[in-house]
Amino acid sequence: MSVKFLLRFVSYYFSSKTVHDAHSNFLFNFIRAVFLDVNPYPDYDIAKNYRKQLLNDATLITSPALGARPQIKTSTIAQLTGATAKQHRYAKVLYLLIQYCKPKNIIELGTATGVSALYQALARPSAKVHTLDGNIQLLEIVKDKFAQMNIQNVEFIPGLFDNTFPALVNKLQTIDYIFFDGNHTYDSTIKYFETALPHIHNKTIFIFDDINWSNEMQRAWKEICAHSSTTLCIDIFMMGIVLFDTSLAKQTFVYRY
Ligand SMILES: C[S@@+](CC[C@H](N)C(=O)[O-])C[C@H]1O[C@@H](n2cnc3c(N)ncnc32)[C@H](O)[C@@H]1O
Repeated sequence: MSVKFLLRFVSYYFSSKTVHDAHSNFLFNFIRAVFLDVNPYPDYDIAKNYRKQLLNDATLITSPALGARPQIKTSTIAQLTGATAKQHRYAKVLYLLIQYCKPKNIIELGTATGVSALYQALARPSAKVHTLDGNIQLLEIVKDKFAQMNIQNVEFIPGLFDNTFPALVNKLQTIDYIFFDGNHTYDSTIKYFETALPHIHNKTIFIFDDINWSNEMQRAWKEICAHSSTTLCIDIFMMGIVLFDTSLAKQTFVYRY
């Protein structure tokens, strides 16, 4: 962990607020549902078992890593999972967010070993999860694992985001939910955001991972929050949640999660 990252965390910690600082009913209810729900949903056990299985999987992945951190030296499913998969604490936020907002279509940029895809698929079996990754060898393995678990609401889309993402949003026309979790550079983040914008509606939700991981990502996050199309933006340090609902006041709420 770099010193810069630690300093960013300290700054977040001291500027962050709690549920008692949420002055609108919407925000209060949102925080309670998405961050404060401590129910032990049985789906969590399914996802935790899947992660455990992956962490013991020595299958070698020979295709090169993609994205903003290609220097990560990973070669097995176990190592890749350790390096990239969302921890339960944050994957649970995606799960609860989906249960609360009930999107019909769910897009994920960055499947990796499928941990966050599984949480999102389990959260709403009636929704279709479209998960994208350029690591085709890995995606095929994860696809088989999901078939073995009989998870049927996930479409795995192989290829570079630059090609697959615009094609998908054009096909879907209207987007309910996107989890941006790959290629964390300023240019790519803004490009994907702008690609998706013509397809949003009042209840669309975007989640950006790693918003405080680098200066570039902080800059992208600030620009997204300041954009005229966004209203309520919630910063939980490791992730940022963006809403477009025009009935909500425009603000960035830094929540101490
Ligand atoms: C952080 S990992 C995703 C982790 C996953 N969402 C989870 O929590 O379980 C990012 C993934 O994005 C993929 N990726 C990065 N840049 C990409 C690009 N330009 N096109 C396609 N895939 C890319 C990488 O192959 C990697 O598997």
